[in-house]
Amino acid sequence: MSKTFLIVAAALALGALLALAQPATGDRPLVPYPDGYRAWRHVGSVVNEATDKNRATTPHGTIHHLYANDLALEGLRTGAFPEGAVFVADWFSLKEKYPGGFEEGARLRLDVMVRDARFAATGGWGFDQFAGDSITARNVAPGAAPKQCFECHTRASARGYVFTRPPL
Ligand code: HEC
Repeated sequence: MSKTFLIVAAALALGALLALAQPATGDRPLVPYPDGYRAWRHVGSVVNEATDKNRATTPHGTIHHLYANDLALEGLRTGAFPEGAVFVADWFSLKEKYPGGFEEGARLRLDVMVRDARFAATGGWGFDQFAGDSITARNVAPGAAPKQCFECHTRASARGYVFTRPPL
C-alpha cells in the first residue's frame, strides 16, 4: 500500500467524521429556548379579542405577557440593545373564570427575540416561536422569520425593532 494512498484514505475518513459532526440543521443558528424567563422583568401584558380567524379555538381571546432580560432592559434604557438581549411574549388563551371574569387557559406559544449579530437578515435579532408548552418544537421554519416575524417588526425600526416601551 503506497504512502499516498494511506494519506488520501486518512483524509477521506477524517472528512466523513467531520461531516457526521455537523448538526442536521447545517449552520443555521438557532434561537435558544429562554430558560427562566418567568423570573425576568415583566414589561407588559396585552389582551387580544377573539377574531373571526381564531374564535373557534380561543372564543374569549388571548393574553400575552412580555418579559425582558437584564440586557434587554439595558437596551430599553439606553436605546442600544447589547448582544444577548432577549424579549419573550408568552401567549395564553383566555378562559372564563366566572361571568365576566377571565383567566389564563392553555399556553398557545412563546415568541422569542434574541439580539445576536449572526441574524443579520432580520435586523440583528433572532426570531423564533416555540409551540405550546414545548421547549423544542418550533413554529418558524428555517428561512421563514423575515416574512413571519421581522417584516412586521420593521414598523418599530426606529426603536431597534422592539415595540414594547414600558415605563422603566
Ligand atoms: C403583525 C405584526 C407582528 C408580527 C407578524 C409579529 N410581531 Fe412580534 N410584536 C408585534 C407587536 C405590535 C408587539 C408589541 C406587543 C403587542 O402589542 O403584542 C410585538 C412584540 C413582540 C415581542 C416582545 C418585544 C417587542 O418587540 O415588544 C417579541 C419577543 C415578539 N414580538 C416576537 C415575535 C416573533 C418571534 C414573531 C414571529 C413568529 C413575531 N413577533 C411576529 C407585532 C408583530
